[in-house]
Amino acid sequence: MPAKNSTTNSVTIGGIKLLIGNGASGAVGLEAAARRWNKVFLVTDSEIVRLELHKKVIESLEEYKVEYDLFDQVPSDPPTAVVEKGTQLLRQGHYDGVVAIGGGSVMDAAKAMNIMQFHEGEVLDYDNSPSGGKKFSRPGLPLFSIPTTSGTGSEVTQYAVITSEKENRKATIGDPMLVSSEVFLDPELTIGLPKRITAATGIDAIAHAIEAYTSNRVLNVPGSSVFSDTYALQAVRMIGANLCQAVKEGADLEARKQVMLGAAMAGFVSQAGSGGAHGMGTPLGARYHVPHGTAVGIMLPYVMEFNASICPERMKEIAKALGCEVEGMTLGEGALSASKKMMQLLKEIDFPTLTEYVKTQEELQLLSEDAVKDKCCMLNAKALNVEEILALYQAAWKGEVRE
Ligand SMILES: [Fe+2]
Repeated sequence: MPAKNSTTNSVTIGGIKLLIGNGASGAVGLEAAARRWNKVFLVTDSEIVRLELHKKVIESLEEYKVEYDLFDQVPSDPPTAVVEKGTQLLRQGHYDGVVAIGGGSVMDAAKAMNIMQFHEGEVLDYDNSPSGGKKFSRPGLPLFSIPTTSGTGSEVTQYAVITSEKENRKATIGDPMLVSSEVFLDPELTIGLPKRITAATGIDAIAHAIEAYTSNRVLNVPGSSVFSDTYALQAVRMIGANLCQAVKEGADLEARKQVMLGAAMAGFVSQAGSGGAHGMGTPLGARYHVPHGTAVGIMLPYVMEFNASICPERMKEIAKALGCEVEGMTLGEGALSASKKMMQLLKEIDFPTLTEYVKTQEELQLLSEDAVKDKCCMLNAKALNVEEILALYQAAWKGEVRE
């Protein structure tokens, strides 16, 4: 059945139906009716409700006579208690599907609630850490995801990050059974996103693409990454060319669309690997409560500069995708131009710096000891040791990239 809204196009990738275009979230009712759904569990947060970003979705469900119950209590960094609450409601409600509208936190919480309604125990019994380890035996109900930010890529990934209040840590559950059935990429939902959130989420997304493209997982198996490479470089092109405009002119729908599609493409490849900016960003989040995208972005140019000598061919390709003129440059110069360009982009969008959060150089040692244990630092182009991590934090603290 074609989508009612003529500005919406659809494509199925990796089993996920993507509906793309301005107003795409207004097709939720039609898609639910096409699946013969009578009732859905709608997961969101109070800010989305306050801004009425869910209005188009609700109107479309009502138009197609699909009932819904609204759960709008997901906070950022969703804790296990919220997952449990949603899980209980899902078990009582006789639903046909779950609809998530919000940022990464909402989509992650919806994934976790949805699958846990059919499983015993706590969600963290199923996390990817050594203390987790239980396996899901069946998927949840079909899930429709509608992102209102362009960053985490959660709408297309098999991951959900849930915060353990007891252990004061973030845990990741990951399973192909968590993946959305349908994703509605509607740039209109991101129009009102504040500048600093647009900047942080957009840089997180471009970091997913860059780190997947340069991860040692990819470098260690030559030729294995042709599919992820194609998406990664295209995501870098689209986000790199449009993020500044999306930050400065938030109402520019075309720029918003390019960043949203780039973020979803980066989400598709984030499973291919990761790197040091994510690994060094995590302790900044844990110790200083730096938002995820901000923490990753603060470290990104420094890790790119480090990786320029490890995988110069790949870093030169990233430089080209970022729009650098590398003709006539040596391989090393071309590779280094990527980190310079990233630094320039961060300055243009007034990105925060490390000294805004970390006040003394002595604190960098503790951060380094945390980061070296992070899996993403091990997946960097060259696995980072504690001395290299400390040197990178110091460079970021001083704000020095090679000119
Ligand atoms: Fe990220």
